[in-house]
Amino acid sequence: EYPEFVKIVEVGPRDGLQNEKEIVPTGVKIQLIDMLSGTGLPVIEATSFVSSKWVPQMADHTDVLRGIQRAPHVRYPVLTPNMQGFQDAVAAGATEVAVFGSASETFSKKNINCSIDESMLRFEEVINTAKEQQIPVRGYVSCALGCPHEGHIEPSKVSEVAKRLYEMGCYEISLGDTIGVGTPGSMLKMLQSVMKEVPAHALAVHCHDTYGQALPNILTALQMGVCVVDSAVAGLGGCPYAQGSSGNVSTEDVLYMLHGMGIETGVNLAKVIEVGDFICNALRRKTNSKVAQARGRT
Ligand code: HMG
Ligand code: MG
Repeated sequence: EYPEFVKIVEVGPRDGLQNEKEIVPTGVKIQLIDMLSGTGLPVIEATSFVSSKWVPQMADHTDVLRGIQRAPHVRYPVLTPNMQGFQDAVAAGATEVAVFGSASETFSKKNINCSIDESMLRFEEVINTAKEQQIPVRGYVSCALGCPHEGHIEPSKVSEVAKRLYEMGCYEISLGDTIGVGTPGSMLKMLQSVMKEVPAHALAVHCHDTYGQALPNILTALQMGVCVVDSAVAGLGGCPYAQGSSGNVSTEDVLYMLHGMGIETGVNLAKVIEVGDFICNALRRKTNSKVAQARGRT
């Protein structure tokens, strides 16, 4: 009943780094992505084309995207909240993008400075233009299991936003537990609601590990037929507009669980641990990955 293969979407270079207070040198970001490209990961979210006033850490998006060595068979999506971001991304060589909406009205305003309805109009324009250029678009739904401002979010609100993004043409909808407050109970209810509108094969889960619930939440999603998981090497990260959010679930820990269950990913865990060493040294911080810690990493 579990999927045989799970696609890992590595979001460390984007979600993992966007919240770092000290600006990470562009060369470090490029080396991080290039090292990740050699691990077997099929998708590496590289950067985001957002306002540098809002997220200074991503201001070097064009240099990062131009500087990486693209490996064949690896895709490098970037975040694009509006047409300006989309056009800048395409000019920098992006061949895949992601729009990011929210199931919470307050979070939408704080994160992208517009209401959910307004964001859908912006995304529709991005998606339609992307279609003309055969650029695939992924869609995020933030606050799928809770909002830092509104608290509880109704599963029906998540499914409504997910449905709108899917119908507009997003090929995959990533359901974000932005602040990591979900449990297997709320994940189950949320997915039951979303799966009435979007087929399981088009869904991904994006869990932050704030409350230590990410792995059980992912396991619950796998049991329900989800076969795409977002994660970040060394568990880097957190959203700058979600107070109290900690990093994404670590790629190493997700790989350890999946491989232990006999689920294939095509990703080499030992190589990902080495990439974790590199980025933790560069940031002078400890890894958030339990697996890396167990293998003697600090
Ligand atoms: P805005 O200020 O409302 O935009 O920002 P505006 O259209 O009113 O324009 C104002 C100024 O911003 C103008 O410049 C525009 O040119 C500029 P000015 O004339 O004042 O010099 N501008 C841009 N600059 C660069 N790139 C752009 C862009 N668009 C306008 N794309 C905007 C709207 C969305 C840009 C802003 O609110 C923003 O950048 N927000 C940052 C959002 C963000 O990056 N959040 C973190 C990622 S989401 C996340 O982490 C959650 C996720 O991981 C899933 C989960 O965990 O749940 C995905
Ligand atoms: Mg996130």
